[in-house]
Amino acid sequence: MELRAVTGDITKLQVDAIVNAANTSLLGGAGVDGAIHRAAGPGLMAECKTLNGCPTGEARITGGAAQLASCYRSCLTLALENGCRTVAFPSISTGVYHYPLMQAAHVALKAITDFLRLHPQLSVTMVCHSPQTLHAYQVVLNMLYQETKPHED
Ligand code: APR
Repeated sequence: MELRAVTGDITKLQVDAIVNAANTSLLGGAGVDGAIHRAAGPGLMAECKTLNGCPTGEARITGGAAQLASCYRSCLTLALENGCRTVAFPSISTGVYHYPLMQAAHVALKAITDFLRLHPQLSVTMVCHSPQTLHAYQVVLNMLYQETKPHED
């Protein structure tokens, strides 16, 4: 099991799946969605048009590639079902949607950690696009790690 937070551009990661933060139409937006569509080319939009959207809290998979906790779990379930072992997430909902960063980090990392306990073959990277985002995810990662560490008397 591996869970880490790094800074960078999610479109540049060598992983089996990258997760987008799209709206329910799946038909393109700004932020990380714009970056992924620019990197993927027009084929991704063509495939998204066939999906008929995605309700909040659920996930859809495309060849190229909340209910916030459920959204992370849905992504990881889909990744597993599709044979992906290494998955990169952006900080979903903390850009255009303005979900409070520390709370989003906590929801995301708790959901991912719980999932990875059951599926330790997965390796997850949180790709943080700004120093503030990376800081928030590192603080919460450390906190969760302290909570789960066995007590030393
Ligand atoms: N790699 C990693 N992270 C990125 C990248 C990138 N290339 N580009 C942007 N980000 C970061 C943002 O800085 C932010 O921390 O992704 C995080 C999520 O921000 P948004 O993309 O704005 O996503 P979200 O807050 O979930 O809002 C979704 O935005 O583009 C629209 O259609 C989309 O309506 C939906 C909304």
